[in-house]
Amino acid sequence: MTPRLRSAQWYGGDDRDGYIHRAWMRRGLPSDAFSGRRPHIAIANTASDLTPCNAHLKEVASSVRDGVHEAGGIPLDLPVVSLGETLLRPTAMLWRNMAAMATEEMLRGNPVDGVVLLGGCDKTIPSLLMAAASVDLPAVVVPGGPMLTGTFRGKALGCGTDVWRLSEEVRGGTLSREDFIRSESAMIRSKGHCNTMGTASTMGLLAEALGTVVPGVAGTPAPDSRLLESAHATGKLAVDLVHEERTPSTLLTRGSFRNAIVALAAIGGSTNAVVHLLAIAGRLGIELTLDDFDRIGSRVPLLVDLQPAGRFLMDDLHRAGGLLAVLREVRDLLDPGALTVTGRPLVEHLDDARIWDPEVIRDRTAPLRDAAGIAVLRGNLAPDGALIKPAAASPHLLRHRGRAVVFDSIEDFHARIDAPDLDVDADSVLVLRGCGPKGYPGMPEVSNMPLPKKLLASGVRDMVRVCDGRMSGTAYGTVVLHVAPEAAAGGPLALVRTGDVIELDVAARSLRLDVPDAELAARIPDSATTEGYASPTRGWERLYVDHVTQADTGADLDFLLGATGPVVGRESH
Ligand code: FES
Ligand code: MG
Repeated sequence: MTPRLRSAQWYGGDDRDGYIHRAWMRRGLPSDAFSGRRPHIAIANTASDLTPCNAHLKEVASSVRDGVHEAGGIPLDLPVVSLGETLLRPTAMLWRNMAAMATEEMLRGNPVDGVVLLGGCDKTIPSLLMAAASVDLPAVVVPGGPMLTGTFRGKALGCGTDVWRLSEEVRGGTLSREDFIRSESAMIRSKGHCNTMGTASTMGLLAEALGTVVPGVAGTPAPDSRLLESAHATGKLAVDLVHEERTPSTLLTRGSFRNAIVALAAIGGSTNAVVHLLAIAGRLGIELTLDDFDRIGSRVPLLVDLQPAGRFLMDDLHRAGGLLAVLREVRDLLDPGALTVTGRPLVEHLDDARIWDPEVIRDRTAPLRDAAGIAVLRGNLAPDGALIKPAAASPHLLRHRGRAVVFDSIEDFHARIDAPDLDVDADSVLVLRGCGPKGYPGMPEVSNMPLPKKLLASGVRDMVRVCDGRMSGTAYGTVVLHVAPEAAAGGPLALVRTGDVIELDVAARSLRLDVPDAELAARIPDSATTEGYASPTRGWERLYVDHVTQADTGADLDFLLGATGPVVGRESH
């Protein structure tokens, strides 16, 4: 027996307010739409022409609508803030929390009983899940899915990853600028998001590992008709979720996050997933720390051979068996009790999964790497932690000592990195600061700094890099990122000087500046360093800089932690 629906608090009753709420919404809807028995399901849609990876979600939404109708619900389009990774400046991450806050408030303020979340491009699924956790209405995600593989001159192009690779080749003189530009129109072959194991692919798959996607759906390519079939089924399920009162707070547990961390490692997913999972957990009041990622994930084998760490692309993963086939291999590492939107534990959905192409998804006995998960580094350079993704790094650099070459901003970096007289060699450690959540602001994806031209020309393809920013999930290299606290929040990264020796030892989980404690304590940051930090005077940026937390706790705003739930506000008239 379904208790009174939330939406009935608007539409029930024969007084003036009930009249107003119903009358303006009728517009052809049958009277029983307001009977209080038919769940009103919002379709929170991040479709936007300026988020090209999500533009096709209008079509997906129409299949969701059909499913909601079929199950007796009332579907309601709710366009929400959409963040496009390639266009937004200074970085889409600056608005992840704003998108989450706006979606949360629109869901709470409106007469809706449940929500289907449509996202794809990097920040969209995280922001939707943060919103759903804080409003705590029954919620289910349909990931928009990756694009099909494009090819150029007979070779597959991985979006993002090959842009980094080809542009380095131009800088290194092994590819002409004309051929580079020619590859541009081949890069994006179809609708959908990046087809590498970047942040969008990772977060779609992790939403499924968390239990918030119908198992088996994440990773379905955007143009695949099975995505629309799944969207239809998800619309129906959303109505059931309301009847069964299955909300994020009843579904998501520490075990769900364990499953997401295991999945993140096994698929070789994006480092950005760490800040996003921490932020989602923060909304749910689930205790999750950086160390959980290392403890749970770092010894998980890498089973998926996808770019940027490997060879294949997302439609290959889908045809090879998808996420469920991957998770079946690591079933013993998963939490057996963590539920999914189906009401059944995730592990129960693994029985029928199979690996159809063992080149793309490896058997547990023959992993691509044994211990592939993201490692958490600490030391006097990162007291609150920093990350490295060993699967995307060069094995010979995982233990390294080198002299720092320090840059105070990305502009400073671009101005000097290719200078012939820059004092840098293959053993140097490139340091970029002022790129954390507060400093930039928004923590942009600049950590995978391009290598100096003269070193590229001499054949160097990787160097140790250290930064308080993020890096694109499609990027690769021996990059230490998310250094916390960031320079602009008083982190010791601000005190590094060119010529200091930095020691990286991934096996020992250590990142150290080889400067005596007393000397470090006596240093103060140069004005050239601090002048690079953002100091917005108004608007969202001001609110963001004043309230954003550091990367090690998810870079959410401090006042957005936790949940308010689906409380119904006071009357508007
Ligand atoms: Fe949208 Fe890569 S740019 S997913
Ligand atoms: Mg990105």
